[in-house]
Amino acid sequence: MASIRDYLFDTAFLDRSIDYLAEALHLAITVVDSEGIPVASRRTEGCDTPASRAYPFRFSPDIGGLVCAAPDQDLLSQAEPHILYCLASLTTQLLRETELRETTEEMLQLSSQLNFLFKVAKKIIGIDDLKKCYQIILDEISQTIKADQGFIHTKGRWDEEIRVTHRMTGEEMDAARNSICLRRTAAGSTIICTREDGASLLYSPIKEKDGQSGQMVFVRASGHRAFSASEKQLVGIIENIISPTFETLRLYDSLQDLYLNTVKALAAAIDAKDEYTHGHSFRVAKYALAIGGQLEIDSQQLNDLEIAGYMHDLGKIGISELILSKPGKLTSEEFRLIQKHPVFTDKILQPIKLPVRILEGAIQHHERMDGTGYPCGLAGTNISLFGRIIAVADVFDALTSKRPYRDAMPVEEALRTLCDGIDSLFDREMVIAFISALRSDQAREVLGDINMGPRYDDIQNLNQFLIELTEFAMAANRN
Ligand SMILES: [Fe+2]
Repeated sequence: MASIRDYLFDTAFLDRSIDYLAEALHLAITVVDSEGIPVASRRTEGCDTPASRAYPFRFSPDIGGLVCAAPDQDLLSQAEPHILYCLASLTTQLLRETELRETTEEMLQLSSQLNFLFKVAKKIIGIDDLKKCYQIILDEISQTIKADQGFIHTKGRWDEEIRVTHRMTGEEMDAARNSICLRRTAAGSTIICTREDGASLLYSPIKEKDGQSGQMVFVRASGHRAFSASEKQLVGIIENIISPTFETLRLYDSLQDLYLNTVKALAAAIDAKDEYTHGHSFRVAKYALAIGGQLEIDSQQLNDLEIAGYMHDLGKIGISELILSKPGKLTSEEFRLIQKHPVFTDKILQPIKLPVRILEGAIQHHERMDGTGYPCGLAGTNISLFGRIIAVADVFDALTSKRPYRDAMPVEEALRTLCDGIDSLFDREMVIAFISALRSDQAREVLGDINMGPRYDDIQNLNQFLIELTEFAMAANRN
């Protein structure tokens, strides 16, 4: 049973139409529902109306109509254009109101979908691990559509397999992937199907420009209600928005790797120019990371610090190998040329849009705390954090590496030399951080490929030495 009053948001026009037809045209008007039962009526008192006609509301579904009655058929025929006009206006109102209601519902749905996407976007911003991003997306969608289980199966940066699950084991995932209903599917669009055991599966492809790269599947166990059309629609919309994000993340990931490998290749090329400094840039990057780790700088800064370490001597590419590997003493002219390598580094790196801290770290590693360094003679904290870190890492490696004119210095002596330079040459905080790194669990890794190992084979003795050295460095700070 349905009545026009259930469908109209505003019934004023219906009431006015009935009043007009009853009062101006002297008709008896009855509004009936879909089963012909009166829901409203108007009639002029004392007026007999034996002639009547029924006019259904032309709106789907069946919502009844008007029954109009008059004293005779002629009067009813004369009134008919007015009746039809009122009915047409009511139909227009119903259509407009329905359209408005549907639009409002769509807007509400869209708004909840946007809210969902916003929530996911906020969570994945700053995460540069592809698998972690997939996990967050999978967990969020699973919770939103109240799936019992779910998985994402797709390709990683080098087309390797990536599997991420939500409340399901690897075996359960394989079983779901091999279920007949999914094997039959291989669909390019989001679908719902029922598995052999009665579980409801919601499948969505992950599409990239070159074709399909993977699939997202959600499971609702047998005995629970099946996935609905609106849940399918939501996952379809999310998939459309998220697929390009997946592609971007994959490309971003591979670009990061490509970038880092290019920088490492460059560093290797620079190191190869001087047989005595072989591996220098790699060790400097490692020592710099050890210092950065002790300073607890964030992972993005650590990445940049590593790159700055690899790049710090890039400018040496512009200096002749004959000068770089000269066994004897350098002439003052040759020394001036070598001192220009940070300027060459600047010239090479300037056109590339690198984070400023990488540039500063690479260019300022020969600046000294008292302003006696080069190329700019910067002093104190005018030297960037990366510059002060790499200065310590660079000198430590230079001291512990063999040179054509001297032997490599033992670790203990090199550390004492660094401590002697606190405040005048090196930032004490960086020196102390480096000593702390050598006292930490990562010591063996840091010192692993050092040219000249520590004199103390007994790690206990080395630790005692480092403790004393830290106290010395702190005292230098107090003075
Ligand atoms: Fe240098």
